[in-house]
Amino acid sequence: MNIDFSTLKKDFPILEREVHPGKQLVYLDSTASTQKPQLVLDAMDEYYQKHNANIHRGVYTISEEATQMYEEAREKVAKFIHAPSRRNVIFTRNATESLNLVAFTWGRAYLKKGDTILLTEMEHHSNIVPWQIIAAEKELKIEFIPVLADGKLDLQAYELMLNKKPKVVSFTHMSNVLGTITPAKRITELAHQAGALVVIDGAQSVPHLPVDITDIDADFLAFSAHKMCGPTGIGALYGKLDILNAMPPFLGGGDMIRKVTFEGFTTSDVPAKFEAGTPAIAEAIGFGAAVDYLNSIGMEEIARHEQEIAKYGLEQLEASGIKVIGPRESRGGVLSFVMDEIHPHDIAQILDSEGIAVRAGHHCAQPLHLKFGLPATTRASFYLYNSKDDVNSLVKGLDKVKQMFDR
Ligand code: ALA
Repeated sequence: MNIDFSTLKKDFPILEREVHPGKQLVYLDSTASTQKPQLVLDAMDEYYQKHNANIHRGVYTISEEATQMYEEAREKVAKFIHAPSRRNVIFTRNATESLNLVAFTWGRAYLKKGDTILLTEMEHHSNIVPWQIIAAEKELKIEFIPVLADGKLDLQAYELMLNKKPKVVSFTHMSNVLGTITPAKRITELAHQAGALVVIDGAQSVPHLPVDITDIDADFLAFSAHKMCGPTGIGALYGKLDILNAMPPFLGGGDMIRKVTFEGFTTSDVPAKFEAGTPAIAEAIGFGAAVDYLNSIGMEEIARHEQEIAKYGLEQLEASGIKVIGPRESRGGVLSFVMDEIHPHDIAQILDSEGIAVRAGHHCAQPLHLKFGLPATTRASFYLYNSKDDVNSLVKGLDKVKQMFDR
């Protein structure tokens, strides 16, 4: 398929707006959240206008339609990551909730005092804090696979750490700060050989790379819709069926039960077992539409386009004397950078005055920033709707920053 990426901006109404007089939005914060194409907005609108009803309950037409739309969305999400079945996909609020679900159900049921959890130094808070909570509760140890100076994982150290037989290895498939793409299949294979459960934080990889979870063979994969052209308020947790079947439920309430008495309850089958209460129905339908949109372009094409923009961005920033952290290859469309002593919040504010949206701060990855001796960075991140022109606007905006700070 030969996609003309320069035509895609028009699919996103927000990208036409001016944020200041004469300054059209240049959106470079897709790692935090992506923009939504009209098709996703329309899908959610249509649900509310024509099919709005609760699911799995009513025997009336619009409830049956809503149920079918919700379950079709699950099917689309499952196929998108090459899951064997729709039953492998649980809808959650976001990747964060998916990771919490694993820590608080699987972790609480199966981890014992003294067990080790292996994370990496490049995790964002969502893949650290849930494990810290469960570690404090059950007296577990957490160890971190080191990140090398070039932003890649120290795989030699990882292999040695596996000798201690950790019970869980949980890692990001793409760093939201360094852009590093980790060798997920190899990490998984080694973890399984050591007898560990494997959890992947796919919040940044699933939206930006072709991800085949059956091929990678991890036990869990967490991701969010809003980072892949879908709405906020919905995400997914992929899990292997035998593990999901054996795990205790997460939240209790309607839909996750088969039978309730005054003495106790029995659970529904997976995935309903993990979806208590009325779910985010419109959002699930929007998630399905987002998957349709990404498929219509192709994930290989999207990854290639973003990596080309990121490479160009890296070259342009470095040519202007700006220090970008992270690896030079095997990286996605994320560029975190520092400029002399200029505070990232000042940089982001000046860029905003030019209509350019970037994120400044620790990007929910404080330990990683600490490791690199940086309190904060400025981050520009790209998606399918960005172009080299956006990079040029960024470089021009940064020239303005330098002038204002007399650098
Ligand atoms: N992980 C999100 C980000 O990087 C919150 O901005």
